[in-house]
Amino acid sequence: MGISLAVIGCGKMGLPIAVQAASRGLDVTGVDINEDLVAAINRGESPIDEPGINNLLSDAVKSGKLKATVNLSDAVSRVNAIIVIVPVLLTDSKQADLGTIKAVTSGISRAMKPGAVVSYETTLPIGTTRNILQPLLEESGLKAEKDFYLVYSPERVKSLLVMDRLNKVPKVVGGAGPLSLEKGMKLYSAILKSELISVGTLEKAEMVKLAGMIYRDVNIALANELSRYCDNVGINLSEIIPFVNTDGEAHLLQPGIGVGGHCTPVYPYFLINDARQKGVSQSLAETARKINDGQAEYVLQRLKILSGNIEGLKILLLGLGFRPDVKEDTESSAYLIRKAVEKHGAECFLYDPFYSADEISGRGFVYHDLNSPDHIDAVILVTAHTLFLKLDWKRLREKGVRSFIDGRNCFKKDDLEEAGIKYAGIGSG
Ligand SMILES: NC(=O)c1ccc[n+]([C@@H]2O[C@H](COP(=O)([O-])OP(=O)(O)OC[C@H]3O[C@@H](n4cnc5c(N)ncnc54)[C@H](O)[C@@H]3O)[C@@H](O)[C@H]2O)c1
Repeated sequence: MGISLAVIGCGKMGLPIAVQAASRGLDVTGVDINEDLVAAINRGESPIDEPGINNLLSDAVKSGKLKATVNLSDAVSRVNAIIVIVPVLLTDSKQADLGTIKAVTSGISRAMKPGAVVSYETTLPIGTTRNILQPLLEESGLKAEKDFYLVYSPERVKSLLVMDRLNKVPKVVGGAGPLSLEKGMKLYSAILKSELISVGTLEKAEMVKLAGMIYRDVNIALANELSRYCDNVGINLSEIIPFVNTDGEAHLLQPGIGVGGHCTPVYPYFLINDARQKGVSQSLAETARKINDGQAEYVLQRLKILSGNIEGLKILLLGLGFRPDVKEDTESSAYLIRKAVEKHGAECFLYDPFYSADEISGRGFVYHDLNSPDHIDAVILVTAHTLFLKLDWKRLREKGVRSFIDGRNCFKKDDLEEAGIKYAGIGSG
């Protein structure tokens, strides 16, 4: 019997997997609570901005291999494989918010057929799949490894590169037991062309993802900490990082204004919280979080050196998105910088070409039109959007700008100084 698949959560990660599976000939139903998104998929239009997805999606819908629905029970009752990729974010107290994934799991439990393979791809705290989700699935009366098969396989590609990387980045698979592992490997070999790595247990597969995320956060924190020293002694760190990385061992990332998004600044807490409860030290991961979040205050210290004083300044943040040319501001560094600006008694304004004035004020920022002549004293580049890379220094100076903090180390100091604007990057010396 062929594989029929339900993908639950058809956002930036789920939809590409659904489309990929359909392109390999599987019968796929995408499930999402967002009715507009479901309607767009059924029209063959991508509701997400992901390079390379449009044609594959419309072909999959036309051929009848992909459809979408808001009805989870109906979809789950008709398939023999289920992939769950709904978000797990942090609560205000930085605990994993499992509400959505538990609700989805209870829905699956009520509808799944015996013999189904259920694979979770959402990043999770270690032990969640076995200790929290498995019991919910077993409320169906079916037992894992006997009546259904439970898999964890972390999604390790990132948005905007998904269609390119889905078939290249090795897919890590863990199972509740040997039968689940075997079924999981079969499922992913039918969906993907990438190498499959059978890591064994659910927990090992969960750990692969968290360890990778913490590695990234710690690596950036190291670059950020080194940048503070380099600023003190007048060495441009960004310039020398490519040379550092020629020794065959180092893979140092670039320093910057902070780490945003719903991955890198979020997932370390999944491990940190659990380790704290178990009395195990994870001081490196904790320190990395502090250093990276502390970049907001460091940026203000850099500005103080340029301006002499921060209080009362009109400071414009350029960029709300946490990645260049992306309209996505989850945990964006802009939020921490706004707090730091206000703490120093300055006024904070924001411009981002991807967000309307209403969207910006809806997020608690004062909107500022970059093209207006309205006075600004200092600018902090938060996001290296392509549009910002062509900034007109003369016009900025005419607006009153005297200081510029290049949070992404994109510009040449000389270009700004020629226009009469003082410049500092992060670790620019
Ligand atoms: N975005 C990334 O770059 C990235 C990278 C690697 C892994 N991930 C993992 O993927 C997960 C999902 O991320 P994303 O970027 O696709 O998020 P997203 O917000 O783009 O999409 C999530 C989708 O889930 C839907 N959803 C929410 N509650 C639901 C419910 N009860 N039933 C059905 N659908 C529901 C939402 O409507 C949305 O369409 C993350 O939590 C993370 O673990 C994301």
